[in-house]
Amino acid sequence: MKDPITVSITGAAGQIGYALLFRIASGALFGPDQPVNLRLIEIEPGLKPLQGVVMELDDCAFPLLREVVPTADLNEGFRGTNWALLVGSVPRKAGMERGDLLGINGKIFTGQGQAIAKNAAADVRTLVVGNPCNTNALICAANADGIPKDRFFAMTRLDENRAKSQLAKKSGIHHSQVTNLCIWGNHSPTMYPDFTNTLIGGKPATEVITDRAWLEGEFLTTVQKRGAAIIEARGLSSAASAANAAIDTVVSLVNPTPAGDWHSVAVYSDGSYYGMPAGIMTSMPIRTVTNGTWEVVEGVPVSEFSQGKIDITVKELLEEREFVKDLIPA
Ligand code: NAD
Ligand code: LMR
Repeated sequence: MKDPITVSITGAAGQIGYALLFRIASGALFGPDQPVNLRLIEIEPGLKPLQGVVMELDDCAFPLLREVVPTADLNEGFRGTNWALLVGSVPRKAGMERGDLLGINGKIFTGQGQAIAKNAAADVRTLVVGNPCNTNALICAANADGIPKDRFFAMTRLDENRAKSQLAKKSGIHHSQVTNLCIWGNHSPTMYPDFTNTLIGGKPATEVITDRAWLEGEFLTTVQKRGAAIIEARGLSSAASAANAAIDTVVSLVNPTPAGDWHSVAVYSDGSYYGMPAGIMTSMPIRTVTNGTWEVVEGVPVSEFSQGKIDITVKELLEEREFVKDLIPA
C-alpha cells in the first residue's frame, strides 16, 4: 500500500464540505489505490456539526480512508498536508456580488496562509474555493512565506464546466466533446469564457454554433451569472457542482493534460503571459506537465473581442487587490 496523501479541507461542515469529503474519501482525487488522510478544519461553532460528518465518514468504512482529524486549530489542521482545499468562508446571498465578500472573508486567508507555510508538507499545493476566490488565494499566497507562488490556485473550473455544458446544450453535442475552453480572469461576473478557441467535436465552436449573437451575448451572461441563478433558485449557493469542480481541478493538476487541450484555473501571474499584470491570481489556459508541474499554454489566439473582455476582468482583479492591500505583506 502507498503512503497516504493528506488533504486538509476548511469549512468541512459546510455545504460544499459535505459534497466533497465523501468523494475524496472514496478515492476521487488520487485514484482507487491511493490512501488518504483527512484533516477537517472548522471554526468553533462548526465543530459540533463536523462531529456528525466525521461519524458519517466512519460509518462509510471507506477502504482508502486512514486518519480523520477534525479541528479548529489551524496548526493541527494543516500539519503535514499535501493538498489544502480552502473552502471555509461565508457564501454570498441573493443580491450580493462575490466581491462584496472580500471585507468579510479576505482576512481568513492571512492566518491560513501563515499556518500552511508553518505546518504543511514540503510539496503542499493549495486550492482556494471560498469567495472571492482569486483575491483570497492571492492573500493566502502572499502570507505563506517560503512557499512558491505556483503552488497556489483559485477555482474557475466550475465556470469552465458550466460553459461546456451550455455549449453542449446549444449544439446538441455531448459536453465530453467540448474541449479547449478557457475561463480568463476572475471568478466573478466579469469572467470571460473564451468560446473563440473552443472546439466542439474537434471543430471550432464558432463553426458548430453559427449564432454569434448568442455566443457573444446569452452564452457569456448565462455562464457569468450562473452562480447567482443557482442562489436565486436554491436559496443557497452551488455546493455539489462546486465540490465536483474542486475535484476536477485537483485531478487536472495531478495528471498530465491530454495533448492539445488545456484546463482553467486561476494561477499567480508573474507578468509574462498574455499581458496579464504581475501579482494577481488570474485564470488562464493551463496545461499540467507532470504531477507538480504545470505551465501556461502559450500562443492561444486572443481576438480583439476577447481582449476587450479580458481587460475588464483584469481591471476588476486589480481593484480587488487594491481593496485588500493591507492584507498583502510587501
Ligand atoms: P457554507 O456556509 O455552507 O459553509 C462554509 C463553512 O465554512 C461553514 O461550515 C463555516 O462554519 C465554515 N467557516 C467559516 N469561516 C471559516 C474559517 N475561518 N475557517 C474554517 N471554516 C470556516 O458555505 P458553502 O456553500 O460551503 O461555500 C463556501 C464558500 O465557497 C463560499 O465562500 C462560497 O461563495 C464559495 N464557493 C465558491 C465557488 C467557486 O466556484 N469558486 C463555488 C461555490 C461556492
Ligand atoms: C458559484 O459560482 O456558484 C459560487 O461562486 C457561488 C456564488 O456566490 O455564485
